[in-house]
Amino acid sequence: YQNLDQFMNFETLPGFRTFYPEDCFLRNYIFNIWRSSAHTYNFSEYDAPTLEPLELYKEKSGEEIVNQLFNFKDKGDRAVALRPEMTPSLARLVGAKAKSLKRPVKWFSIGEQFRYERPQKGRLRSFYQFNVDILGEAGVGADAELIACLVDTLRAFDLDFEDFKVRLSDRQLWILFLKHWNVGDEQMTPVLSIMDRMTRLKKDQLEIQLTSYFGESTAHFIDTVEELMAINSESALVNFFANLKLSESNKQLIDERLGDLASLTQLINSMEIGHYVSIDFSIVRGLAYYTGFVFEAFEARGEGRALAGGGRYDDLIDRLTSNAMEAVGFAMGDVTLLDLLESKGKLPNFSQKRDIMILFSEDEARSCALADAQFLRRSGMKIEYPLKHVSFSKQFKEANQRGVPFVLIYGNEEIQKGMVKLKDFQTGEECLIERNQTALLDKLKTLF
Ligand code: HAM
Repeated sequence: YQNLDQFMNFETLPGFRTFYPEDCFLRNYIFNIWRSSAHTYNFSEYDAPTLEPLELYKEKSGEEIVNQLFNFKDKGDRAVALRPEMTPSLARLVGAKAKSLKRPVKWFSIGEQFRYERPQKGRLRSFYQFNVDILGEAGVGADAELIACLVDTLRAFDLDFEDFKVRLSDRQLWILFLKHWNVGDEQMTPVLSIMDRMTRLKKDQLEIQLTSYFGESTAHFIDTVEELMAINSESALVNFFANLKLSESNKQLIDERLGDLASLTQLINSMEIGHYVSIDFSIVRGLAYYTGFVFEAFEARGEGRALAGGGRYDDLIDRLTSNAMEAVGFAMGDVTLLDLLESKGKLPNFSQKRDIMILFSEDEARSCALADAQFLRRSGMKIEYPLKHVSFSKQFKEANQRGVPFVLIYGNEEIQKGMVKLKDFQTGEECLIERNQTALLDKLKTLF
């Protein structure tokens, strides 16, 4: 069989993962916390197709994501793409029912996303995201609610302010700042995209990219941006703008916007999460649709790629569905989160804590054991037994190797007395219990 070698070497595609039971255990751990965190904030779960029309992502998500699409023609010659993010699908779903949905719409989703990126630490081609969004609310109350949900979700993983930080920035102030530098509407998106990548670009590359927009003022512009990006408090931000020689109209807009920021931070402080959040204008966000406050969560010392990112995108639903609706949200990824939990030693152990193993001798004992096992399973206990009869010593060995905490022993002797033996594997203690299914269940429930 000539191709056997090749067949045996079939590997997972680059950037895709397989999930052995230990990995599924961790994935479920993460999904359970994501889901329960969303529920405590009263978000409702939704989902959308994994495969979407290519058109949904073109231009709306921005160049970076479009370059990373897994797209192809289907057999009906339709241009399709695996979803790289949820937000455009969500915008379509909500936009289609905009008139009938009770506002604010608070929805969340957990699902697989696909981006053709260069696989590296924290970045894969398939990953899971927890998307949380509020639609139909223009006020900063919605932005604050989402930042709080982001903080509390990370806290539910036993992470705290020495483990992660949320960095808060604002697209509107960024745009007003760039207008002050005479950046026109047409140039706004490409210049913002350079700003987003600024800390990752080498200085000479950055200068080359910016010269076509800022000419001889490029060096001065970079200095001012570096100053802006180094700011980490609201008061320093207010000072920074006060020191710019702004036009009267621009000054008024900037003052208003600083007022909005003050309202947002006041809410954040009232929610007692202020110490998790800091002002950071190096956050611009790579996606094109953001229109207001934007934020990202990182490991506290800024190591590694972002844990989560989001912001306000008030125009997207209008552009996709012609039903205007304000929106703000974030998505958290599982890859960087797993890395962080591992580095902090905060991953739960893959355990079989609730396992009970039933051991039996042949014939009558076996049929009693099977009947009880089924009863206990239907009552929600996690029960296992050997699928074929082997000697008691082998059964004991197997239970020991699996680290099972308790075994129920169905020996001929016990069965004849109408009893079964319960053994605690950790302490070695044994006791006899009446072989009555309800009594058995009551006894086992006291063990966990
Ligand atoms: P994003 O910043 O592109 O935002 O992704 C959010 C998070 O998803 C990232 O912070 C990261 O944890 C994870 N992520 C993104 N790409 C990858 C990758 N290639 N490998 C592993 N993890 C990755 C969005 O997707 C927006 N749609 C979020 C949003 C929701 N904005 C408003 N609502």
